Amino acid sequence: MTVLENVSLKAYNTFGLNTKAAYFISIGTIKDLHAILKREFVQKKAMILGGGSNLLLTRDFDGAVIKMDICGKEVIAEDDDKVLIKVGAGENWHEFVLYCLDNDWGGVENLSLIPGTVGAAPMQNIGAYGVEIQHVFDHLTAVNKTTLETRRFNKDECKFGYRESVFKNIHKDEYVITHVVFKLTKRHHTINTSYGAIEDVLKQRNIKSPGIREVSEAVVSIRQSKLPDPEEIGNAGSFFKNPTIDKIDFEGLKAEFPSIPGYEISDQMVKIPAAWLIENCGWKGYTRNHIGVHKNQALVLVNYGNGTGSDLKMLASEIQDSVASKFGIELSPEVNII
Ligand code: EPU
Repeated sequence: MTVLENVSLKAYNTFGLNTKAAYFISIGTIKDLHAILKREFVQKKAMILGGGSNLLLTRDFDGAVIKMDICGKEVIAEDDDKVLIKVGAGENWHEFVLYCLDNDWGGVENLSLIPGTVGAAPMQNIGAYGVEIQHVFDHLTAVNKTTLETRRFNKDECKFGYRESVFKNIHKDEYVITHVVFKLTKRHHTINTSYGAIEDVLKQRNIKSPGIREVSEAVVSIRQSKLPDPEEIGNAGSFFKNPTIDKIDFEGLKAEFPSIPGYEISDQMVKIPAAWLIENCGWKGYTRNHIGVHKNQALVLVNYGNGTGSDLKMLASEIQDSVASKFGIELSPEVNII
């Protein structure tokens, strides 16, 4: 384990922002994790980094960045129908999805091509195309940053919600997730093509009874057509969460803006696509100072190469202001702003 000093984080965040960390340590084992958490400079100020795919760095970080590189995949139990697989937090999420497809294990195919690591996935309960990680989650293990105790969190204890878990609120910054255990199907897979765009792609490809690989391939093609590849254009996926508003307020908005989309999520609440709100404030494709709003997906802010995190933060707050004044809706960021 080596402690590096004054390290550029450009290669470690998908926005490609060139800020620096005072200290940078890659951690590959629990033993090293314990050792680093005992160091005084880490106890003072530290940040755990996975794939850096949900992060907006607005300035240099004057503490320690701990890059989570604990890897490994191990089947810990199985029967004819199900497999329990324990995965190191540092594993790349999409490589894990491909590994599951190669083994014909079902459950994560709708979550194909999401950037980031396995350890970061439960923090915000990653979700896409009708599936959230909570649907395949069994439990995780995490190390308490202060006491160094290892704790197991089962599904209920994680209190998963839409882009939410205890690791983003009541236990924020308290734990380092080291392993996640998933429960996947070995046969009789549940194929979820409820998301219209998946059905469209399968129809175009003339696939009538898709398997998990066909669903994954459809998701990959949808994401590639809508979302910029962070290797080419810096971005962190959706910048804001989709807001939920009261049904009565939605009816009011519908009278004024008849084309506003909304999905009922309960008897009282309606979820509205933030992308529609942003697009209808005129931001889609907007560019300035090497940053902007993506031309195919208004929910994605982009860095064309030499943008800065503080400019992106300013753009985000201008977008929030215009959505609030036109629609009376507050957008909350989905990314972590540092
Ligand atoms: N829309 C627009 N303008 C746009 C794009 C979309 O008006 O530029 C409207 C359309 O009405 C469209 C609706 O927004 O039907 C939904 O768009 P999309 O299917 O692209 O999904 P999203 O709500 O914008 C969410 C997730 C994505 C996830 C997709 C697919 C959030 C914050 N984002 O986006 O997750 O991939 O659904 O399930 O919930 C991420 O979290 O980083 C992410 C990419």
